Amino acid sequence: MLKHSNNTYSFAFIHLNNLKHNLKLIRSRMARKTKILIPVKSNAYGCGIIPVSKYLEKTDIDYLGVAFPFEGILLRKNGIKKPVLIFSEIIYEDDYEECIRYRLTPTVFTGTSLMKFDRIGRKSNKKIKVHINIDTGMGRSGVPFNEGFSIIDLAVSMKHIEVEGIYTHLSSADENNKRFTLSQLNRFQEVVCYIEEKNIKVPLIHVLNSAGIINYPEYSYSMVRPGIMFYGYFPDNNIRKGVKIKPCIDFRSKIIFTKTVKKETPVSYGHTYYSQKKEVIATVGTGYGDGMNRLLSNRGAVLYKDRKCVIRGRVCMDQFMIDISPVKNFKTGDLVTIFGSDRTKSIRLEEVASSIGTIPYEVLCLLGERVQRIYLS
Ligand SMILES: Cc1ncc(COP(=O)(O)O)c(C=O)c1O
Repeated sequence: MLKHSNNTYSFAFIHLNNLKHNLKLIRSRMARKTKILIPVKSNAYGCGIIPVSKYLEKTDIDYLGVAFPFEGILLRKNGIKKPVLIFSEIIYEDDYEECIRYRLTPTVFTGTSLMKFDRIGRKSNKKIKVHINIDTGMGRSGVPFNEGFSIIDLAVSMKHIEVEGIYTHLSSADENNKRFTLSQLNRFQEVVCYIEEKNIKVPLIHVLNSAGIINYPEYSYSMVRPGIMFYGYFPDNNIRKGVKIKPCIDFRSKIIFTKTVKKETPVSYGHTYYSQKKEVIATVGTGYGDGMNRLLSNRGAVLYKDRKCVIRGRVCMDQFMIDISPVKNFKTGDLVTIFGSDRTKSIRLEEVASSIGTIPYEVLCLLGERVQRIYLS
């Protein structure tokens, strides 16, 4: 990790109050007993895994979720005590032991990994808690739905395994067409009926991601896993439904140079823009090395003193240019807002993402190390 000096050029101002608001809103949509797992994988969606997890440590959420064991180990080494679920299957031999050493809950869905954990449990004479991921149609990882029943049977037959959770992941809960999601939910319900009929007690049954919480709240089971929604964003631009989450990040960068150019002056690599008249061009100190997507070249705008200033020419690695002609009293060192709120106006991350053909998740996760995260409460 880069250590930031006081003199950074780009900032993500992270509003912890908005995270608090979003958590409260998620709670208000769930039954009172429903537990909440917050994914903090991929550097907490770009917001900073340690500060966000430290914040969550003080709340009443029940679980944190990460993709890989090393992310969980990082949490433990930084004093995080909440239960942590690892979503992906383990591939490194030493990670089996490490998961247990660091009290991380693994996801398992193969007989091989179940046997490895059972063996570790036998050695230390304890039961290892696991969650079984059933692939009901996501097509990514998890035991294929029709083999799920036998994996559950195998897991419960093992003396040193405790099936604490069973879950699935929805692939299409943000889509208007509900057919596929309902088929995933029906398949999952078959598994739930199976364990109930066999009187297998599994305390944590969970399905819903953010889109699921918005569109299928009746399938909350005993736990939900809201990611993007907790951070204050919608999975995509079409699924807002009056849900009043608050975006947690204002992504800003400093003006590092200004100049007045005459008509037909080229701007940036490849001269993809020539000024159309006399213009005031400002250079901003962030680029694709910081997560300012290069597809934003000549597209979109930033806010400067509440004015929209359009992006001119290609985005470079460390800088990009904007037309600040509409702004009076500009000066180097001022901040412009790339997404989030300025004074009275704001730019929605969902709109920036959709303008370049991607999703808010990707824009957040690509915020670079040079972007200093500043936590406001
Ligand atoms: C297993 C799992 N659960 C929950 C989530 C959270 O999803 P979202 O951010 O769409 O709420 C993710 C994120 O991709 C995930 O992989």
